[in-house]
Amino acid sequence: MTIEAGPTGALRIAPSILAADFGALADAVRAIDAETDWLHVDVMDGHFVPNVSIGPPVVQSLRRYSSRFFDCHLMMSEPGRYLEAFKDAGANGCTVHVEVGGTASLIRDARSLGLRVGLAANPDTPFEKVAPYLGDVDLLLLMTVFPGFGGQSFMGDVMPKVTLARREVEDNALEVDIEVDGGIDVRTAPIVVEAGANVLVAGSAIFARPEPLEAARAIRVAATLAE
Ligand code: DX5
Ligand code: ZN
Repeated sequence: MTIEAGPTGALRIAPSILAADFGALADAVRAIDAETDWLHVDVMDGHFVPNVSIGPPVVQSLRRYSSRFFDCHLMMSEPGRYLEAFKDAGANGCTVHVEVGGTASLIRDARSLGLRVGLAANPDTPFEKVAPYLGDVDLLLLMTVFPGFGGQSFMGDVMPKVTLARREVEDNALEVDIEVDGGIDVRTAPIVVEAGANVLVAGSAIFARPEPLEAARAIRVAATLAE
């Protein structure tokens, strides 16, 4: 079964499973399925970021419980060593950080594996660092927190970079989704859409709420108001 990302540029809500109950992950994912476009899978290696989360075995297990597009955010120093394992486990898109280097070959490797290709930039990484690759990727992830943990505060000073990216994508008619990740909730959702993002990752604003499904719907409504 081919799992599609959907039309580039469309508004998408991508719950981050990092904030879910890992002891009942399949239940947590199924509970919000009706309000989920993509599922954001945060992979942390304890080296690129000071935290360790999950790897291909969990993606493989989760694949049996969800038909959603798995948007794997590889916060890893050597993502190239694991792209094939994630693809085999059922990942649909893999996003690598420009900060780890070797970007051009990572993009080529991911593309040759048939993955949808994403490139991520930390809040303090200037747009100029990712601009040369925009024509080669399907997604640009602009972090609105420093990666490593959920539940951090939204960094509004990343918005000019989001707008710059949106302008570049539109001016060059590029087929690139612009994703934001970190501190997204009903308050910040309209801000990031206004700035030019179309894929919104939210972890604690969904899974740390008493009614995750309703919380995801509220973020979508808040984001839609800004469209
Ligand atoms: C942080 C991760 C984010 C994080 C988002 O390194 O990449 O996806 O889980 O969590 P919230 O939405 O709680 O900031
Ligand atoms: Zn993430």
